[in-house]
Amino acid sequence: KRLILIGPPGSGKGTQSPIIKDEYCLCHLATGDMLRAAVAAKTPLGIKAKETMDKGELVSDDLVVGIIDEALKKPSCQKGFILDGFPRTVVQAQKLDEMLGKCGVKVDKVLNFAIDDAILEERITGRWIHPASGRTYHTKFAPPKVPGVDDVSGEPLIQRKDDTAAVLKSRLEAFHKQTEPVIDYYKKGSIVANLPAEKPPKDVTAEVQKALSS
Ligand code: AP5
Ligand code: ZN
Repeated sequence: KRLILIGPPGSGKGTQSPIIKDEYCLCHLATGDMLRAAVAAKTPLGIKAKETMDKGELVSDDLVVGIIDEALKKPSCQKGFILDGFPRTVVQAQKLDEMLGKCGVKVDKVLNFAIDDAILEERITGRWIHPASGRTYHTKFAPPKVPGVDDVSGEPLIQRKDDTAAVLKSRLEAFHKQTEPVIDYYKKGSIVANLPAEKPPKDVTAEVQKALSS
């Protein structure tokens, strides 16, 4: 399967991705995670992206399209993939169609994580992550066994620099202005499934499974 996950910050894309990935043996490509790894490693790409990400704005289309183009060539992504956080502009969606078209394939399904903005601040400001594995926790909705510590590795959890109420405002603005039109772009192909993303994680998983089996 070739899947795209679209939704505002905190809508649950990163939470559902590992579950879908394991069930369907897909590779998980999250541009945000890749960019944060590049920032942490201080690569030229990371240095370029850092300031934009800290402000909650989108990095340039060329930069993320380059990352995805590279990643999709990996053998592990040939069977299928989950794109989490890409495409985020109509230009990125067009470029993706071009890339896939060269291999004679296309996107099967777009999962639209539909949720009211008002719910997102609590989700974002309570999030803790384990960067090495991508595991995500929440102080209230998905607390780790020991506060601040990853359940599996015992390593410390961190908070994302852009997970503040102030930066969330810019991220939401970018979502509504630049990313929402991408949903309409895919609606033309009738491959969009709307998910009630405000429900508890298990219910959202069930909705994802329903959408993918149809
Ligand atoms: P990115 O990392 O993609 O961030 P985002 O889109 O803002 O999405 P999040 O990761 O914040 O949300 P999520 O939906 O994954 O939520 P999660 O499941 O963790 O992008 C970051 C930045 O990188 C961008 O601002 C931009 O600068 C740059 N970038 C990335 N891709 C780009 C692109 N293509 N083009 C240009 N720039 C790009 O859940 C959140 C919290 O809620 C967690 O704590 C979780 O435990 C909890 N939770 C999840 N589901 C539920 C539920 N159902 N009920 C209760 N709590 C829940
Ligand atoms: Zn995420």
